[in-house]
Amino acid sequence: MVGGQARAPHPGSIAGYIPRPSDLKDQCMKLTILAVSDEVDQRIYSPSLRERMADVTMVIGCGDVPASYLEFLTDSLHKPVYYVLGNHAEELTREGSRGFPRLPEGCINVGGKVVTDSLSGLIIGGLPGSPRYSEREPVQYTEWQMWMMIARMAPRLIWNRIRKGRALDLLVTHSPPRDINDEQDIAHRGFIAMRRFLQWFGPAYQLHGHIHVYDRSKSHVTRHLGTEVINVYPYQKLDLAFSRLLQHEEPAATSRYPDRITGDIRERAGMKAKPRP
Ligand SMILES: [Fe+2]
Repeated sequence: MVGGQARAPHPGSIAGYIPRPSDLKDQCMKLTILAVSDEVDQRIYSPSLRERMADVTMVIGCGDVPASYLEFLTDSLHKPVYYVLGNHAEELTREGSRGFPRLPEGCINVGGKVVTDSLSGLIIGGLPGSPRYSEREPVQYTEWQMWMMIARMAPRLIWNRIRKGRALDLLVTHSPPRDINDEQDIAHRGFIAMRRFLQWFGPAYQLHGHIHVYDRSKSHVTRHLGTEVINVYPYQKLDLAFSRLLQHEEPAATSRYPDRITGDIRERAGMKAKPRP
């Protein structure tokens, strides 16, 4: 289920509150996710962001946004930020291509990895970069290299399927899969390996960037098998429903940022929050 960029809270719900599985038997877990890619959008890079996006439970970076942008998101929303590198690897620099290369602080790089969000139990996999098309861009892959990256992730995905009943819930990539939301030029052609990934491992959603769609009337969502493939450029606020999340796993009681996140949830749920030092 995909929402627009401006979203009203669900009737009767408490914005940002993640219910316990016992409260929602036979229902699905709904998460509000802010996803960004390719461009610093001033509607997001704004002091009022925390007010406007208080119900966001996590942030996803789909590549080619500066480290400072991702760090701003983690600082202002106090929520986990998961990201992959884009082909230009903007995330590695603070000030343009000559800046000192470093990874964004306080954010989690999921490129080539499979991780579990400790608060929601969401299983997230990531595939960075674009197809190889020039000698200058640092994060590009041939189809063969993309197959190899997927092969290295496969043991964890298969283990998840055996143990939790699903390989992953959310795939985060920079490029799209072949013939889904992609374009015909070599730099923006989708990966065949990524399309096969969806067939084999069946995430509920794939979020990607890299394809700049300026016509807002054009659809940015394509359904492929059991996966909704969503182009998030330049940002999307999404209400995503994960039907398998509650059936197979109890979310962990603690979060990556236990004081901040559980404190926020308590406040929004109308509970008495502990005073912060
Ligand atoms: Fe890109």
